[in-house]
Amino acid sequence: MEKPVEAIQSVRLDDDRDMLILLDQTLLPNEKKFLELKELKDIWDAIYLLKVRGAPAIGIAAAYGVYLGTKKSEADAYESLYADFKKAKEYLASSRPTAVNLFWALDRMDARFKKEEGKTAGEVKLALKEEAELIRAEDEKVCESIGQYALSLLEPGWGILTHCNAGTIATAKYGTALAPIYLGQEKGYDFKVFADETRPLLQGARLTAWELQEAGVDVTLICDNMASIVMKEGKVQAVLVGCDRVAANGDTANKIGTSGVAILAKHYGVPFYVCAPLSTVDLKCKTGEDIHIELRPSEEITTQWYEKPMGPKDVKTYNPAFDVTDHKLIAGIVTENGIAYAPFTESLPKMFK
Ligand code: MRU
Repeated sequence: MEKPVEAIQSVRLDDDRDMLILLDQTLLPNEKKFLELKELKDIWDAIYLLKVRGAPAIGIAAAYGVYLGTKKSEADAYESLYADFKKAKEYLASSRPTAVNLFWALDRMDARFKKEEGKTAGEVKLALKEEAELIRAEDEKVCESIGQYALSLLEPGWGILTHCNAGTIATAKYGTALAPIYLGQEKGYDFKVFADETRPLLQGARLTAWELQEAGVDVTLICDNMASIVMKEGKVQAVLVGCDRVAANGDTANKIGTSGVAILAKHYGVPFYVCAPLSTVDLKCKTGEDIHIELRPSEEITTQWYEKPMGPKDVKTYNPAFDVTDHKLIAGIVTENGIAYAPFTESLPKMFK
């Protein structure tokens, strides 16, 4: 049987046409449209406007973007080509601050550039393309492995609550938090998934509910403020979420609202698991205090998804896109190399070995 997630590839390179092809995630679930982007400015906009979103997918898009930006350069000496690469890298790095995968992918492209020192411009460009393709291909394997480890924590028939979208369209394939659900689906685990709608940009409603439904998974859409009642009613046996950055002590930044879900899960005795590719673990951040939380425009709360304004004109808003879940609320962090348990300062570094 074809795996249900194989159909959707949200980020890919069309090298022959010098284009980044992106599934426009802002149009889902109403329209499945692929954008064809050539200009760095359009790629920057696509990341900022969440046309491509989800930490791993942002990293992959940035890797392809910096490759395409460098490919265009007319510089023929290694040093001048590097200057153009650096400009493109810094520009793309300014698109969103929280998901560390963006910086991780760009740094990895940088390291590859430096490894090619002394090569011709053509050879360096080919190496960059190879590296970007590797980043994408590796993410596919990483997600599958996270899915296997996470599945070992779950039992058939369980109710699983998730927040935001950490699914196939947020990664190269399979997703992180949704990977065990897809793998379980293939094994007949019959999970019942509760998808928080995820205000204000509704990634849970528009994306998670959509992609799980497309894959034939039993999914129930709830508003964010209903997480408590479904837990209280015993409908949820585990919470699985993705993440944008994990600090060395296990504090985890993920979509706004995640920390509230973790607090509820603790109250109701439901295990709360974070699914984190190692590209999302940032040991340079000691705690969640070191993670830069992105603030986004008011319109996302008041008007963006509505025909009429949903708040009085000029009302003050506060719109942080992420929050940090305290490591004490996290039962385990599932990586591609195994599951890290508290104390995370000791278990997370071991995952890299
Ligand atoms: O603002 P977004 O939609 O990019 O936020 C995405 C999330 O918070 C996801 O949970 C996270 O990036 C993990 S995706 C595998």
